[in-house]
Amino acid sequence: MATGPPGHEAWVAAESTGEPVGFLALSPSGAPHFRLGFVEWVAVAPGARRRGIGRRLLACAEHRAAALGWRQLHACTFHTNRASLHMYIDSGFYPAATLHDYAGPGLHYVEMVRPLPQSGGGTAQ
Ligand SMILES: CC(C)(COP(=O)(O)OP(=O)(O)OC[C@H]1O[C@@H](n2cnc3c(N)ncnc32)[C@H](O)[C@@H]1OP(=O)(O)O)[C@@H](O)C(=O)NCCC(=O)NCCS
Repeated sequence: MATGPPGHEAWVAAESTGEPVGFLALSPSGAPHFRLGFVEWVAVAPGARRRGIGRRLLACAEHRAAALGWRQLHACTFHTNRASLHMYIDSGFYPAATLHDYAGPGLHYVEMVRPLPQSGGGTAQ
């Protein structure tokens, strides 16, 4: 894990040889009291896909965000990106909104949301 300012973190997945094969970045989204996180730059090397690396990178971000007391993770992906959509759904995200024509005519962006477990019985805001 690489860290920057609080909540701005990234993970690199590596083979036992040390070769990097995956990456994910996490950052706060919006004002701190929203307690939302944004997942981006998720990528796994073509030769290393379908081995659960993306799922494990997401799990790292989810654990960290929950430890920070965040309520939700958000991520965006193109509606045509089947692998990405399935990976997020497999990891407990759901499609919350579609930004139609976001990147041009017919190219929609899907906002994916993952509610995070809340500890301590606090009231969600
Ligand atoms: C999306 C991406 C990160 C997935 O990484 P990955 O390590 O291959 O994903 P995992 O092996 O952890 O897969 C987890 C689940 O996601 C789904 N999934 C992953 N790739 C899939 C594909 N090509 N087609 C359908 N479902 C897929 C499956 O449900 C899978 O579980 P399963 O293998 O047990 O069936 C990878 O395909 C990638 O780097 N794509 C290019 C970059 C990209 O599009 N990034 C996302 C931008 S938001």
